[in-house]
Amino acid sequence: MSNYSKTHALMQRGREFLGTEHAILCGAMSWVSERNLVSAISNAGGFGVIACGAMTPELLDTEIAETKARTDKPFGVNLITMHPQLFDLIAVCGKHGVGHVVLAGGIPPKGSVEAIKEFGAKVIVFAPTLALAKKLLRSGGDALVIEGMEAGGHIGPVSTSVLAQEFLPVLSEDHLVFVAGGIGRGEAIAGYLEMGAVGVQLGTRFACATESIAHPDFKKAFFRAGARDAVASVQVDPRLPVIPVRALKNKGTEEFTAKQREVAGLLDSGAVEMAEAQLQIEHYWAGALRRAVIDGDIENGSLMAGQSVGMVKEEQPVADIMTQLMDESEAALSRR
Ligand SMILES: Cc1cc2nc3c(=O)[nH]c(=O)nc-3n(C[C@H](O)[C@H](O)[C@H](O)COP(=O)(O)O)c2cc1C
Repeated sequence: MSNYSKTHALMQRGREFLGTEHAILCGAMSWVSERNLVSAISNAGGFGVIACGAMTPELLDTEIAETKARTDKPFGVNLITMHPQLFDLIAVCGKHGVGHVVLAGGIPPKGSVEAIKEFGAKVIVFAPTLALAKKLLRSGGDALVIEGMEAGGHIGPVSTSVLAQEFLPVLSEDHLVFVAGGIGRGEAIAGYLEMGAVGVQLGTRFACATESIAHPDFKKAFFRAGARDAVASVQVDPRLPVIPVRALKNKGTEEFTAKQREVAGLLDSGAVEMAEAQLQIEHYWAGALRRAVIDGDIENGSLMAGQSVGMVKEEQPVADIMTQLMDESEAALSRR
């Protein structure tokens, strides 16, 4: 049994909150974070999170049941706030007694936090600014994830290192803050813990684990890529409030530019309203990610990946990745 006393001491509040051995979350990744990866993360002492994405309540119901069949450890469910059936999805989480619900993709709509708390679950929120973080924590959020622009998937404009310096000194005494984005090694985990984080969230580092169902070609693209291959999408039309997405550069990157032009055209002609335009963009991403993750179309699909992709060199079991991260963190803290 390895001794992680220094890392565990700094993670203590996060470990208690999650009910895990290590306060390391594997952030929800659409199509990737399903029953196999989620249960493997939780069985390895971390905290797996199911990516509900665009799933129907029926599909989420099955996914939670299948995950429970594979682990008796805690795991969470990530719900996208703009999902039209958000409250039905919350009810499914309640039916299964899910302990933690992560609300992602925007400000939680009225009543959603309360509906989650009603069945006794903890609510984890994201916030791009300190003011919004304070507001969400005041109005029922139990823990906060701050995620920098180094991350894979949808990103904000600010780096993890700057967010950590802005948020942690102000919030970490009274609140539980997890840091995400660009973390590939345990030394970085140790650094954020020392700054006041109670734990961390990683995505890219776990996406190609042995237990991940991602297509072998998707994984190969990750192993080949370096940090500078993971680029943020470009906004073509200033009116379209497109949230940038970080992914490995490929033909799909250009297709997204074309998609934006098409949607901007529909807006111009009055064929769609702004909300519908935004939804079309999000559906585009969900489809493109599926093509890459499930079908292995690494040319036209979306290879969402963070800048830490350069540190992902081979397929490893989740337990080995977890051990490596914890060993590195503990060694770094021991050298201090
Ligand atoms: C392929 C991929 C898909 C993702 N999908 C989602 C998602 O559906 N919902 C979400 O909240 N975050 C999503 N993310 C973000 C992750 O949950 C996590 O916060 C992020 O990967 C952390 O940064 P890192 O990639 O630098 O480790 C995704 C990330 C990746 C790489």
